[in-house]
Amino acid sequence: MEDNITISVIKADVGSLVGHTIVHPDLIDCAADKLEETDLLEDFYVTAVGDDLQLILTHRHGTDNAEIHQLAWDTFACATEVARDLKLYGAGQDLLSDAFSGNIKGMGPGIAEMEITERASEPILVFMADKTEPGAWNLPLYKMFADPFNTAGLVIDPSMHQGFVFEVHDLVEGKRVRFHTPEELYDLLVFIGAPSRYVIHSIYRKDENGEAGDIAAQASTQRLSLIAGKYVGKDDPVMVVRTQSGLPAVGEALEAFSHPHLVGGWMRGSHNGPLMPVSLFDAKPSRFDGPPRVACLGFQLSSGQLNEPQDMFDDVSFDLARETANKIAEYLRRQGPFEPHRLPLGEMEYTALPEVMKRLEDRFEPID
Ligand code: F6R
Ligand code: MG
Ligand code: MG
Repeated sequence: MEDNITISVIKADVGSLVGHTIVHPDLIDCAADKLEETDLLEDFYVTAVGDDLQLILTHRHGTDNAEIHQLAWDTFACATEVARDLKLYGAGQDLLSDAFSGNIKGMGPGIAEMEITERASEPILVFMADKTEPGAWNLPLYKMFADPFNTAGLVIDPSMHQGFVFEVHDLVEGKRVRFHTPEELYDLLVFIGAPSRYVIHSIYRKDENGEAGDIAAQASTQRLSLIAGKYVGKDDPVMVVRTQSGLPAVGEALEAFSHPHLVGGWMRGSHNGPLMPVSLFDAKPSRFDGPPRVACLGFQLSSGQLNEPQDMFDDVSFDLARETANKIAEYLRRQGPFEPHRLPLGEMEYTALPEVMKRLEDRFEPID
């Protein structure tokens, strides 16, 4: 597939300032210098959202390519050195192993990648969130690709009318399942309404047989705690969404974030909070280490070149969503350590809570 282009968005928290707030500019420079050295890539763009360093890469080597993953790993390792020199907080935290072993999946960093045949014009959106988890994309992806109240094209555009195919991953059992929409909407919602376990991994256009055809969206689904077996922070997901011409328009994809829905994450990865759409400038979660943020860069791909990105939420029309998010944040904060601000017990299993419960186990006696 010589003419194909692969977009790989790979992110990791390899050290931040102050505490878990933002990425030091030296890390961004170091990553860009490292990526500049290789001839493996068609193009790249390095940025940061909150404490996560984001590598947006285009290349001709397909998904799950060992050389590309190695390059990303080496870039994060290089940035980790800078973070260590600067004594940044949590230097190297998302690199769960000392050595790279062929595929970056399961090794700490988050990754969303898709191989596409570039259309005559290829507008893509790269969404990057901080202080939340991969399931945070479930609701907006559902709105973009399955909700006609969000996406007018599902009703109006004949090429979208047949719907899409959603691939959902069960992160606990390590299984996947595909749902066809609109005919299986209700079944789909049974699962994706539980976003800590079931996450949308990818969405496809339907081909002439109604089966999964061209890729339309791809999200990262890595959960560090499930990989590391203990709490190591939330998993600050990324995703790539193709738009226009039979896919959601740019504005329909962005519209899915006009309602700041509740997501798991925020302080200590243990609280529900609103996902606030922000410009890259405002992607600096500070209040109670949050509230969770989502930023979005738009690219007009051209023969694999990314060209100038557009900072999509840098728009006053999202001010109301931000204000609503702040009001929700204020409301939830008053509830302190009580659910549903604090995550339910099952979600706290990688924190100190199980230890406390174990310590007090003997003090529990039958009521009667
Ligand atoms: C959430 C996050 C922060 C930290 C918190 C405590 O994803 O990264 O809220 O959990 O700042 O950090 P440590 O345990 O490193 O002191
Ligand atoms: Mg951090
Ligand atoms: Mg982060």
